Amino acid sequence: MVASARKNLPRHVAVTMDGNGRWAAARGETRAAGHRAGLVPVRICVEECTRSGIEALTLFAFSSENWSRPAAEVASLMSLFVEALDREIAELGAKGVRVRFIGARQSLAMRLQGRIAAAEQRTAANRALHLQIALSYGGRWDLTQAARKLARECASGALRPEDITEARLGSGLELAGLPEVDLLIRTGGEQRISNFLLWDLAYAELYFTPTLWPDFTAQEFERALEYFAGRERRFGQTQAQRAS
Ligand code: FPP
Repeated sequence: MVASARKNLPRHVAVTMDGNGRWAAARGETRAAGHRAGLVPVRICVEECTRSGIEALTLFAFSSENWSRPAAEVASLMSLFVEALDREIAELGAKGVRVRFIGARQSLAMRLQGRIAAAEQRTAANRALHLQIALSYGGRWDLTQAARKLARECASGALRPEDITEARLGSGLELAGLPEVDLLIRTGGEQRISNFLLWDLAYAELYFTPTLWPDFTAQEFERALEYFAGRERRFGQTQAQRAS
């Protein structure tokens, strides 16, 4: 089935790309090779989203906690991000993809920060797909920095604590301005959030698959969309309320 003909298409899909290390180990390859193989399904997901009319895709590429991995693995991932940006940004731009990075970018090497700024600038006017890549990202970090902005406004007298609303806090988060995340896909068999988009996943449907990330295909993306289309989303209301 062509996804664009589908009812109940998610507007915003988030993906936790897990299983690169196990995929590599099963082949006697290095973890770095597993991460490199993980670029293929990234391209597939972008392609599927633009083809089907999904508005936003957010990928968890490197968490706040991933800094504690062996230095050599961290270095290989950082080099891979630079290389992937150098290689892919022209095509992403040509496809009309707007690329943004979410996370503590000041903790990244200047070389990578430069590529990020250039990629964001180059694709800023694009609207075919909003692609967010989470680097040095944690949901707790995101909430903390949003709280800090509000605290500064209160301290300066520009905001009263009683005027803090969910909408105002949400407007300080990294995904502000995008549609709510409707669907989270996590590969690799684990069924947890792992400090990804803690606020933004409030009403997301969760699709877990044992497939290791480098083996993730367009068919499996379609299966996740089918799963989403079959879910009854009630947002806290009763079935009867939703039907009326
Ligand atoms: C988790 O698998 C994966 C990562 C920490 C890295 C994900 C990065 C990529 C797929 C590259 C994508 C690049 C761009 C530019 C978006 P793991 O290493 O924890 O796997 P394991 O659980 O099998 O050990």
